[in-house]
Amino acid sequence: MFKERPTSPTIMGTRSATDLFSEWAMKNKDEGMERGHAASVTEMLDMSLAQMKAPFSAIDVGCGNGWVCRALEQIEGCAKAVGVDGSEAMINKARTLGEGEFHLATLPGWKPTERFDLIHSMEFLYYLTDPISMLKLLHDEWLNEGGVLVAGVDHYLENEDSHGWPSALNVHMTMMSEDEWGRAMESAGFVDVVMHRAAASDSFVGTLVMMGKKQVA
Ligand SMILES: C[S@@+](CC[C@H](N)C(=O)[O-])C[C@H]1O[C@@H](n2cnc3c(N)ncnc32)[C@H](O)[C@@H]1O
Repeated sequence: MFKERPTSPTIMGTRSATDLFSEWAMKNKDEGMERGHAASVTEMLDMSLAQMKAPFSAIDVGCGNGWVCRALEQIEGCAKAVGVDGSEAMINKARTLGEGEFHLATLPGWKPTERFDLIHSMEFLYYLTDPISMLKLLHDEWLNEGGVLVAGVDHYLENEDSHGWPSALNVHMTMMSEDEWGRAMESAGFVDVVMHRAAASDSFVGTLVMMGKKQVA
C-alpha cells in the first residue's frame, strides 16, 4: 500500500493549479519558471532521448507555455511534439510562441487520439489528487509499446524546502517520497525504472526524476 502524505489536503477554498498558473502566465512568470526548470529538463531530455530511435513522437504533459515542445522540435528525429495543459493563458501563450499542436485540457479528464513514443512532464504530476492513477493512464493509454516516460517533480518528501508550497500558494499538492514515486512507476506497469536527482547542488536536493519504459508485449 502507498502511504499518501499530502501536506495540503484538498479542502474547500483551495484554488485550482490551472487558475494559479493562468495568473502566472498573465504576469509573464512562466518565463522565470522556464529558466528555473531548464537545468533539470536538460538532464531529463538527455536521459530519455538516448532511448529514442528516429523518427519519434513526443507529448509534454502540463506543458505550460510550451517551451519543452519547442525544444523537442529542434531535436533531429523528433517527428512531432504535442503539448497539453489545463491553463488557458498558458496554452494561449504556447500557441502564440510556436506553431506546434497544443491542447487545452484538464487532466486526467482528457486523452490524446494517438499514442506517443516519449512522454515528458516537468512539475505537473503532484498537482493531481491521484498522480498514481495518472501514471497508470499514461502508461496504458498514452504511450506506445517500447515508449518512455520521463517526469520530474520538485515537491517531494525529501525536498523539505518544498513542504510549505501548498499553503503558501493555497493549491493542492500530493506529497510522496522518492520510494513511493518509484513504486508508483512500477505499479503503473513501467519497466527499467530509473530514479534520479537532476540539477542537485549544495543548496538543492535536486528535481526527483522518474523514467520508465512500456514493455513490448
Ligand atoms: C509548475 S507548472 C510547469 C509548467 C511546465 N511544465 C514548465 O516546466 O514550465 C505546472 C503546469 O501544470 C498545469 N496543470 C496543473 N494541474 C493540471 C491539471 N489537472 N490538468 C492540466 N494541467 C494542469 C498548470 O496549468 C501548469 O501550467
